[in-house]
Amino acid sequence: MFPCAARSTEADRVCIFFKIKNCYDVLGIIDREEEGIGNTRYPFCMKKSLQIALDGPAGAGKSTIAKSLAKQLGYVYIDTGAIYRAVTYRALNEGIALEDGDMLAKMIDRMSLRLVPSEEGQRVFDGEEEVTSVIRSSEVTNNVSFVARQPEVRDALMDLQRDLAKDGGVVMDGRDIGTHVLPHADLKVFMTASVEERARRRHEENVSKGIPSDYEQLKEEIALRDKRDSEREVAPLRQAEDAYYLDTTTLSIEGVVQAIERLIGEVSA
Ligand code: DC
Repeated sequence: MFPCAARSTEADRVCIFFKIKNCYDVLGIIDREEEGIGNTRYPFCMKKSLQIALDGPAGAGKSTIAKSLAKQLGYVYIDTGAIYRAVTYRALNEGIALEDGDMLAKMIDRMSLRLVPSEEGQRVFDGEEEVTSVIRSSEVTNNVSFVARQPEVRDALMDLQRDLAKDGGVVMDGRDIGTHVLPHADLKVFMTASVEERARRRHEENVSKGIPSDYEQLKEEIALRDKRDSEREVAPLRQAEDAYYLDTTTLSIEGVVQAIERLIGEVSA
């Protein structure tokens, strides 16, 4: 039996973990490791199944970089922000007070979250409903920090995230991956960029997708989210002591990927 399920006493939570574990298996991480894809593409990568933690504030480019690295390494990309977003979306739909940690934790127990890697990135399902796009709405974006700061919510989601990463071969992005979720990750990178640059990137992304966008408003929202994420009491946004710091303000995507590839080389040597 899969260890996380054995530890859990709540049937519904077991179900969430099993579903995520299943989707991991279906996607064949274990097979891919056996085939040594990571080694074939990355001869410098001596250790096959690294856990790579990418933390940093909103809009630092973590997801773009994590996706690109995961693809090149034959690893799985796990966007933990999407988990907090899916919880927030469901809470808003159910009319649950976003400050009520106990109610939110009970709601998480009823959820059946699945993260499904795909060519386009990670797809997110809550039961049968695909929530990949709706969890990016500004309503969710502007409320997710309230949900993410509830200790009961972070507790309820911790095992799930650890379980997703336990076999390695993952690039996991978030806010507290290096400090709390995977304190023993093989490589930790704390990525950031100026608020102006992060707002500019988000604005360009919105415009390219045809989403209405206001640069000044984005800048304010990003600064506010930084403040809430870094000032919360539980697992605030912080650089882990053993994380590499990477300021991407003036770097291209390719430049950041190359910088992290060099770090992977270092930790694998
Ligand atoms: O990465 P993102 O912007 O999609 O994350 C959404 C929110 O979730 C973010 O404001 C903070 C929270 N979050 C968190 O608290 N811990 C994580 N590991 C990931 C995200």
